[in-house]
Amino acid sequence: MAKEKSIFVCNECGGTNPKWLGKCPHCAAWNSLEETAAEPSGGSKQHRFQSLAKSAAVTTLAEIDAADVARTPTGQEELDRVLGGGIVPGGVTLIGGDPGIGKSTLLLQAADTLSRQMKVLYVSGEESGAQVALRAQRLGLDGSRVRVMAEIQLERIIATLDIEAPAFCVIDSIQTLYSDALTSAPGSVAQVRECAAHLTRTAKARGIAVVLVGHVTKEGAIAGPRVLEHIVDTVLYFEGDTHSSFRLVRAIKNRFGAVNEIGVFAMTERGLKGVSNPSAIFLSTHGAPVPGSCVLVTLEGTRPLLVEVQALVDSGGPSPRRLSVGLDRDRLAMLLAVLHRHASVDCLDQDVFVNAVGGVRITEPAADLAVMLAIQGSLRGKALPRGFIAFGEVGLAGEVRPAPRGQERLREAAKLGFSVALVPKANAPKKPIEGLTIHAVERVEEAIDIVRGL
Ligand code: TYD
Ligand code: MG
Repeated sequence: MAKEKSIFVCNECGGTNPKWLGKCPHCAAWNSLEETAAEPSGGSKQHRFQSLAKSAAVTTLAEIDAADVARTPTGQEELDRVLGGGIVPGGVTLIGGDPGIGKSTLLLQAADTLSRQMKVLYVSGEESGAQVALRAQRLGLDGSRVRVMAEIQLERIIATLDIEAPAFCVIDSIQTLYSDALTSAPGSVAQVRECAAHLTRTAKARGIAVVLVGHVTKEGAIAGPRVLEHIVDTVLYFEGDTHSSFRLVRAIKNRFGAVNEIGVFAMTERGLKGVSNPSAIFLSTHGAPVPGSCVLVTLEGTRPLLVEVQALVDSGGPSPRRLSVGLDRDRLAMLLAVLHRHASVDCLDQDVFVNAVGGVRITEPAADLAVMLAIQGSLRGKALPRGFIAFGEVGLAGEVRPAPRGQERLREAAKLGFSVALVPKANAPKKPIEGLTIHAVERVEEAIDIVRGL
């Protein structure tokens, strides 16, 4: 068979070129051409991506039967929570995370449970069958009915899907696969995109629930094109510090459920175990309060979570550094400017480091106030009182804006024994919460004044 020709497509304008060029001849964008498989030229042939979306006649919305999709629970309650109840036939899930964080472990556990009620195929491109078996043994999955295939060639995997006809299939990982249609190496943008598109098409056509494991780059994004996130139905990210035992699985996108829901796991001797009440796991245990630390209540999905934010302000050189782990760095720069301008707290010549304890990533702006107080505490060398929590978004004008579902956050903090809270005025509860003294503020300078007086 003649090899399918590949062409180079521009990411920016979609223009094509028969060979790679540094600059797109159509839109003059630099470094935007990527190899893709050429479309077969015969007009009668089906388009390669034909069955990504089934076509249907035009109908009035009200007349469409809004049948809910059938979900099969994976047996891992925390995983089901992020998936929106379980796996969906034809649904494609992408799960990303650092190496060694537990992607293969979690999926093997889920595959084992599912194999008791449906056909399951586990395609391993990274480990041999024996290695997978060894892991299964370690996890205590004796007599597992999961079918295992160690393969990295896409065409052979697709053919096996046809023969085995599984209802659930794990591809571990998408970066190790390659398609014969392309000449580039496995893991390249073109290969990843091609393989993901093909597998998605097969999943949709045959109603297979597919999970793709994706590696992440140093920046924390799934390696390969962003387009991967558009093709699939659900995107999950594993977070957490590989040195601690807790792992978070976060839904970034979910066509079958809520996003920003998180599942919490603990890595044990025998695999990942769900943690059903995770609110206090990200607090570090200081004997006495230390300067530069502030606890915040973040609301992830449906459950409030208490997380300790730490800051270290230290005299810097001529160009001071601003580093953050688990928090947005641009947001940190903004907070430092607000602190300076509105509360006269000056860190301009200081190195500033902030860290969310336990490897959590906090994306919501409600963390602002806690970050600010941690920085201020470190700068002054003065600890916040014991049992102190804070949350609230800070604006550029120095205002403190409310966080969604403030009452719930406060109640959770009170339940865990916290006794002082600094919150935005709009989040102050009408009825007092037992055991919790609440300071409500509208502006940054007010917040700093209150903390100085505590
Ligand atoms: P793994 O699932 O291989 O990570 P990934 O597929 O995301 O790269 O996770 C492996 C890590 O988990 C490894 O460092 C050992 C640890 N582990 C346990 O602590 N307990 C277990 O039961 C298993 C199977 C692994
Ligand atoms: Mg793995």
